Amino acid sequence: MHETRKLTRFLAKYRLFVILAPLMMIGEVAMDLMQPRLTQTIIDDGVAAGDLSKVLQTGAIMIGLAVIGCIFGVLCGVFAVRAGLGFAADLRSALFSKIQKLSFANLDKLETGSLITRLTNDVTQLSDAVQSLLRIMVRAPFMLVGAIFMATLTAPRLSLLFIVLIPFLILVVAMTMVRAFPRFMKVQAKLDHLNNVMQENLQGVRVVKAFARHQYEVDRFGKGNDDLRDTTLSAVYVIVMVAPLMMLTVNLGLVATLWFGGHQVNDGDIEVGALVAFINYLMQALFGLLMFSMTLMRFTRAEASAERVNEVLASEPAVVQSPAASVPATMPGKVEFQAVSFTYGDGEPVLQDVSFTVEPGTSLAILGPTGSGKSSIVSLIPRFYDVTSGRVLVDDMDVREWDEHRLRDHISIALQESVLFSGTVRENIRFGKPDATDAEVERAAQMAQAEEFINHLDDGYDSVIGQRGVNLSGGQRQRLAIARAIVRGAPILILDDSTSAVDVATERRIQEALASLHMTVILVAQRISAVVNATNIIVLENGRIVAQGNHEELIATSDVYQEIYRSQVESGVANGQ
Ligand SMILES: Nc1ncnc2c1ncn2[C@@H]1O[C@H](COP(=O)(O)OP(=O)(O)OP(=O)(O)O)[C@@H](O)[C@H]1O
Ligand SMILES: [Mg+2]
Repeated sequence: MHETRKLTRFLAKYRLFVILAPLMMIGEVAMDLMQPRLTQTIIDDGVAAGDLSKVLQTGAIMIGLAVIGCIFGVLCGVFAVRAGLGFAADLRSALFSKIQKLSFANLDKLETGSLITRLTNDVTQLSDAVQSLLRIMVRAPFMLVGAIFMATLTAPRLSLLFIVLIPFLILVVAMTMVRAFPRFMKVQAKLDHLNNVMQENLQGVRVVKAFARHQYEVDRFGKGNDDLRDTTLSAVYVIVMVAPLMMLTVNLGLVATLWFGGHQVNDGDIEVGALVAFINYLMQALFGLLMFSMTLMRFTRAEASAERVNEVLASEPAVVQSPAASVPATMPGKVEFQAVSFTYGDGEPVLQDVSFTVEPGTSLAILGPTGSGKSSIVSLIPRFYDVTSGRVLVDDMDVREWDEHRLRDHISIALQESVLFSGTVRENIRFGKPDATDAEVERAAQMAQAEEFINHLDDGYDSVIGQRGVNLSGGQRQRLAIARAIVRGAPILILDDSTSAVDVATERRIQEALASLHMTVILVAQRISAVVNATNIIVLENGRIVAQGNHEELIATSDVYQEIYRSQVESGVANGQ
């Protein structure tokens, strides 16, 4: 229960409910515990003595107590639910804002699918555990102890039966738990696995269909599903087999009570009513014990959930801002790499000894084959990751000394994957600058050459974009992503392969528009056509710069560049034919 306990701080705010719920529950149990004694009174003092008014009077008291017990029960339920749901809501917000604070490196490790499960399923699991903790885990022990106490008061000699029954039942329950606990743990692991398979499939459902792999996926799911069923069966079988044994114990206890109790009644030691009351207490005690053990099972699941939730809460952002972080005196938008090497996690080096300078208002193009490290270079500028060695400077200040928020404000970036949000076209562009006016939004769209297709949409700028931009073409998505970056109006603009799905003529118009903005532009490209006008070009291969200069210089001096140029011009890519 170690992991679950760590989360109790989220209950602190609800401590009033956490205290009140069990108190109410004790009230309810107390009412329940009085009922058998009153039954005894009705039988012995009312029925046996032929006193009808005693019967009616006691009956009325019983109803009264039942009503009070019911009120206590309802209040306990209300308080437990308030605490449980409040706890869940706070935990979810804490998780969500933690995830927002994490760095790219953390997010590489905790996948999206698993984060969703943690925010939904795991939190619900924990919320249920809190509620049952406040209700059943309080009710069961009080019922057990209270019933034994009352039974002893009612029929002291018969109570000796408990000495035999309770240990036997505890033994049976303990044996069940020992066998069922690990199995339920396994069930949880299988369920997680199935969730992962499902999420991965649903996120990539188009790819699955495109490759006609649905049968494979169905089989994979079917296997996980069957596995879950079998594991659950083996866990539940333990309980199913033991349940009749428990009932047998309870029934044997009942028979023994009637046997010994019957003799005592015959001998005149106790009265019939006392025997009836005793039997009621016996039942209450035994069922209290069973209920307690069943609820314990639920906590195995909660513990697994708590572990997963705590993993997120305990993640420390990989990129941390130093307390002395500041901003440079002037911020014209200069970018400089000094002998930068970079490795993701503990893999192979992705960048080695990369050095270049981009003066304010000029442009740099990064050219290179796929996997050569282009996206990695640009992700170091807004400090999505920290360099392994060397320095990245923005406006002559190391990005590690920058105030993180100000640094990111200083840079507009269109990431390689153009992710849009569900909402209108206008909202998506405005995401880059929340207070942008309509005129600014439209100007950005014009520059990104997105205006024409936006005007063709049914509702223009107010057209609704589906989740992740499903109802747009790849090139349309890219242009909206560029517009979103442009509208931000930051001095440094980074476009990571943002025109790969746009035709060459449109690409040229976008570049001309960008040139008129006099920003520092860093653009990643695979096509020569996208880079010819750049002030400076670097050619990257396996994480190293193999050529650097402008188009004319490179054509004259670099074999690699000539090779790329020739291959693309010959195939017509560079001319857009
Ligand atoms: N988040 C990551 N974690 C670990 N390795 C990564 C990560 N992102 C990229 N890599 C690795 O770093 C290397 C460079 O990747 P990068 O994305 O920078 O290439 P790229 O030049 O942008 O390629 P492309 O033209 O296909 O976009 C690749 O070998 C890739 O496998
Ligand atoms: Mg890339």
